[in-house]
Amino acid sequence: MNERRIATFEVTPNIAVVKYWGKRNEEKILPTNASISMTLDSLKTRTTVMFDSKLKEDELWLNGKKVDLEKNAEAKERLKQLDVIRKKAGINHRARIVSINGFPTAAGFASSASGLAALACAASKAAGLKLSTQELSILARLGSGSASRSVMGGFVEWTKGEKPDGSDSHAVQVASPQHWPEIRLVSAVLTEEKKKVSSRAGMRQTVATSALYRSRQEHHLPRVLEEMRRAIRERDFEKFAELTMRESNSLHAVMLDTWPPIKYMNDKSHEVVAAVHALNEAAGRTVAAYTFDAGPNAHIYTLVENAPKVMVMLKKIRGVKKTVISKPGVGPRELTDSSAHLIDPRNGKVRKHCFDEKKNEITVTVK
Ligand code: PMV
Repeated sequence: MNERRIATFEVTPNIAVVKYWGKRNEEKILPTNASISMTLDSLKTRTTVMFDSKLKEDELWLNGKKVDLEKNAEAKERLKQLDVIRKKAGINHRARIVSINGFPTAAGFASSASGLAALACAASKAAGLKLSTQELSILARLGSGSASRSVMGGFVEWTKGEKPDGSDSHAVQVASPQHWPEIRLVSAVLTEEKKKVSSRAGMRQTVATSALYRSRQEHHLPRVLEEMRRAIRERDFEKFAELTMRESNSLHAVMLDTWPPIKYMNDKSHEVVAAVHALNEAAGRTVAAYTFDAGPNAHIYTLVENAPKVMVMLKKIRGVKKTVISKPGVGPRELTDSSAHLIDPRNGKVRKHCFDEKKNEITVTVK
């Protein structure tokens, strides 16, 4: 008889206010600096993992489509945490992984953080492991650096760590999701295009060629990290906002200083930057802060009372395709109800599933 073990988790992304950009170890994904982010309450990824003694190879289904792992080296590489999990659990079974984003695909929202953190949670649970949040963070990190921060809710720091094995480079909570309930993140989609330079290739190039990057590491980041932790603990929005904007600008400056230069922000992104500064000027204080990752889409931190102002500002910018408002999220959630699994636990088959945009929910057909 074949043996099957299954688990399903929902995990949300995070948006960094102090960014990770540069590895000191490419294989273990160890960063050259610590980073800090807020875990969101929206944009969920649901992932079901089933270890099955009958499977010959690991199998991955993303948003309803099977991924050809032989032809997609990057996807295969990102699954390397599965081997670590099998070794820890003492099992040999291959896994079927089914994952869907609870938001429109190609909407310009990065799903690697939530996707790889969901994989760490679901695969380790299905393998029968009981891991600490730190251990889950280390597993998620192997797939994508920023995923290491999505295993916790609230404000999260991914520590740089010193050890060569990476055992001290993981998530720690700076503040709980309840600590700053008024904070909001307004994400504005400016493009649905896939980025031309992957963050993996981009940061490698920056570390190798940018002199400004060295100054960022030595002078800018140590101060920003310390002040950011304090601004979050003291719920000092003006300080938090200024640090967030300056930090995003520092990141995109080192990208431009890379040789050959890398440019992720576009003219629309710079229009948002100017509009946020104009909004703050008109308010006479800092009410909104932009931040940009490895892409042109804008993420704007604000407080709940100022969110309508930010929305009005974005409405005036032509080319904003979609906006999503998030609050601090609580982190990964296991779905134990059998009908929530994306795989039928009785026969191991992938269940019909989709994201219903009208209802704004993931629907699974249970026969
Ligand atoms: O998630 P990764 O490993 O592809 O790196 C993404 C890095 C940034 O999003 C640009 C910054 C960050 O800290 O999230």
